[in-house]
Amino acid sequence: MDRKDVIRSAYRLTGGSSFYDGMITCSTLSGKAVCRLAWAMNKAENDAYLEKALSGIPEHFSGRLLEVPVGTGILTMPLYQTLPEADITCLDYSADMMGQAQEKASRLHLHNVTFRQGDVGALSYEDNTFDIVLSLNGFHAFPDKEAAYREVFRVLKPGGTFCGCFYVKGEHKRTDWFVRHIYEKTGFFTPPYETASSLKNRLERMYAAVTLGQVKGIAWFVCRK
Ligand SMILES: C[S@@+](CC[C@H](N)C(=O)[O-])C[C@H]1O[C@@H](n2cnc3c(N)ncnc32)[C@H](O)[C@@H]1O
Repeated sequence: MDRKDVIRSAYRLTGGSSFYDGMITCSTLSGKAVCRLAWAMNKAENDAYLEKALSGIPEHFSGRLLEVPVGTGILTMPLYQTLPEADITCLDYSADMMGQAQEKASRLHLHNVTFRQGDVGALSYEDNTFDIVLSLNGFHAFPDKEAAYREVFRVLKPGGTFCGCFYVKGEHKRTDWFVRHIYEKTGFFTPPYETASSLKNRLERMYAAVTLGQVKGIAWFVCRK
């Protein structure tokens, strides 16, 4: 299965029952409406940034990977099915979101994925532990972003990969409006936010090699420590 198939197969896991899963995958009717309205994206654009964000994980990867935040696992459990040799740790603040990810993992019989409730800003792992840290749609939600950047860098091995995606402000007016008036008010997003150029500058200051790009108001990145 190539990466596009993996992302598409995530949609099948939604079962059409979860509003969140439908939205983050731009798949259900309500999810597509939110994608279009708030993010000005169609499904192909949604797939495109996810594929780029996940491109930091090699096929047949067999090292240690930390995913934070895992959320409901809708984007990654199907991918982990293709990585049976990897040692995967999934972390999230919210037991409720992560419980949904755990259900998906057991439905898919994933035995190499462990789940931990915790704070990205205070990770309980030694320095240089992980080969890859993956963070999808997390940094716009994290309350202490400086601590999150520091902790991710600390637990990555030298030469390790930090990859993922999240909202950047200033790229699409309607998206910025929704973030300020809806997502922030409901507590899903927490300022301050990066712009595309502040993110580029930050990552280039911290990491040895950085590849990044955007689809509308979402930036994706792949960095090597
Ligand atoms: C928008 S969801 C993204 C989840 C998933 N990666 C996805 O793309 O569907 C944001 C998640 O960040 C988690 N979160 C927020 N602050 C956190 C923190 N300090 N440490 C760990 N997880 C956190 C929330 O519980 C929520 O599950």
